[in-house]
Amino acid sequence: MAHVAYVQPTVDSTSVFNSNLFNGKVLFCTGGGSGICRGMTEAMMRHGADAIIIGRKLDRLTQAAKEMSEATGRTCIPAQADVRQPQALKSAVAKAIEQFGKIDFVICGAAGNFLAPISGMSENAFRTVIEIDTIGTYNTVKATLPHVRASKGSYIHVSATLHYRGTPYQVHVSAAKAGVDALSAVLAVEEGPHGVRSNVIAPGPIAGTEGADRLTPKGREFSVTIPAGRLGDVKDVANATVFLFSGAASYITGQILPVDGGTEHLRSVALPYPQAVLDPASQRDSIKSKM
Ligand SMILES: NC(=O)c1ccc[n+]([C@@H]2O[C@H](COP(=O)([O-])OP(=O)(O)OC[C@H]3O[C@@H](n4cnc5c(N)ncnc54)[C@H](OP(=O)(O)O)[C@@H]3O)[C@@H](O)[C@H]2O)c1
Repeated sequence: MAHVAYVQPTVDSTSVFNSNLFNGKVLFCTGGGSGICRGMTEAMMRHGADAIIIGRKLDRLTQAAKEMSEATGRTCIPAQADVRQPQALKSAVAKAIEQFGKIDFVICGAAGNFLAPISGMSENAFRTVIEIDTIGTYNTVKATLPHVRASKGSYIHVSATLHYRGTPYQVHVSAAKAGVDALSAVLAVEEGPHGVRSNVIAPGPIAGTEGADRLTPKGREFSVTIPAGRLGDVKDVANATVFLFSGAASYITGQILPVDGGTEHLRSVALPYPQAVLDPASQRDSIKSKM
């Protein structure tokens, strides 16, 4: 990564927000057994929430639930379900209600990804990602909505930024996440009068996660230049989660919050970045003095 003058540090959410912020609240999180969504869940638990995490691999879910409960002193339970199957999600919701009596917050984070160009991708592969990411989000919303309405709760959908432009080898995820963004906006509009909020978090590349590892060809590093000076950390997404679920965000709904260190706003320019902004004098010879 290029040199920058200052690297924005990441912090623990508990150093900013009260640790009792979500006391008595319950989180339902698909994809919570690993990676970013596990980090989002643990952060919510550090602020007092109990949680149920959903995925297909029961062993990993059980281990994650145990570790997060031990680390936070809150209760976390696993529920095995494939988000492509509405009935399985309804069973997970029933388990949450049996254990906790309610659901306040939902994170729709389950997703699949791999690198492939359109020309080399099967119809089945494309459909599978749409089914997990987009239809899985719809199924999760359908299964949880009556309870989220009852608690006047809130949704966060985990999307991405890659569909804001044409990202090669990502047609399936681009189409799927664009659908998730649209779903969240309609959910915010339809459910706002019922007291329910819905927002999207759009992470950029997050270091040390399955998603980032899988999208980085072996032996190569992400070559993107990041205004904040570093790759994202799971904590960066977790901190945005705590804020968006908190009462401080009560007037924020239907929004998309990129957590990408400003990358999305950096267009390719003829000037070297960030050298050109850190040391303008170094560019003097390469810029015509007058237009
Ligand atoms: N990592 C990044 O840099 C990055 C960047 C932008 C956006 N994102 C988004 O962030 C989220 C988390 O990504 P991650 O990188 O942390 O990857 P990850 O660890 O692989 O998380 C994906 C989770 O989804 C679950 N899942 C997958 N298919 C499922 C299905 N059919 N039913 C139920 N659960 C399913 C997986 O559990 P099982 O395998 O047990 O089912 C896993 O826990 C995703 O929505 C991803 O698109 C990630």
